Amino acid sequence: MLYSSTMTQSALDPAGTAAERIAELFGWMAAGAVVIWLAVVILFLYTLSRERQHSPRAASALIVGGGVIFPIVVLTGVLMVALSLLPDLLARPPGAQQISISGEQWWWRVRYRLPDGEHVELANEIRLPLGEPVDVIVESRDVIHSFWIPSLAGKIDMIPGRRNRLTLEATRPGTFRGVCAEYCGTSHALMRLDAVVLDRDAFRAWLGQQRRPALVTRSRGLDLFLANGCSACHTIRGTPAAGVIGPDLTHVGSRQRLGAGILTNDPHSLGQWIRAPQAIKPDVLMPSFGMLPPDEVRDMAAYLKSLQ
Ligand code: CUA
Repeated sequence: MLYSSTMTQSALDPAGTAAERIAELFGWMAAGAVVIWLAVVILFLYTLSRERQHSPRAASALIVGGGVIFPIVVLTGVLMVALSLLPDLLARPPGAQQISISGEQWWWRVRYRLPDGEHVELANEIRLPLGEPVDVIVESRDVIHSFWIPSLAGKIDMIPGRRNRLTLEATRPGTFRGVCAEYCGTSHALMRLDAVVLDRDAFRAWLGQQRRPALVTRSRGLDLFLANGCSACHTIRGTPAAGVIGPDLTHVGSRQRLGAGILTNDPHSLGQWIRAPQAIKPDVLMPSFGMLPPDEVRDMAAYLKSLQ
């Protein structure tokens, strides 16, 4: 089933330290714009109400003062305030949890660095510890994407050949929606991400669980998954499936949504996705498996949902 979102996705309803600073800056800029607009309207009404001509000297002073000097002063002020925010927004927190996120066609490859220096690969969902800064590194293999969770922080481009950084520090628990904010192809608008903010202990427990291999390693669903070649693209740790082209599915059943934030995560949606991903997300790299008998799709979907 297509997922329709009521999740928070507003830069004006911040739930992260960077988003709070940005919302504050927006508030000041909006207030300033209103004041300047009112001043211009008052000046305009004033000139309409006057019969007599201004002296050329007064007119030039108004044009130079209001049209050149005033904008330079105001815009320089705004630029200074915005630049003064940058060092904090870009600071790299020492000892922070590190997450690498890579933009793919059209999903997000996510890698968490574990406390022992190892990495675990996930997809399309990140979880964050409440009140702790997280060091996010973004990159892309082919085209430019832009990673943006409006409630938590500003947006940052994912540029092939570059590693950009962003710090996420959530200030309240909840689930917040991220999007790709740079047109990247046919299904750009279907490239979403869930960011779930948990308290510290729940976060550690979740990360520990995600690192474990799949619990279910024997089932007809898995046999069908392997027999149909799904393992050429997908990994299920603990099974022979070790493909790296598509999302890691080791714990796919535990994710909030499917298909990069666009489907509810249940066996029915999994079945729909296996049968016709191209109909749901045009030009996605995954081929359609509409030729499979319904019972085989059902068994594969049930198996994938069991991967908690
Ligand atoms: Cu990725 Cu737009």
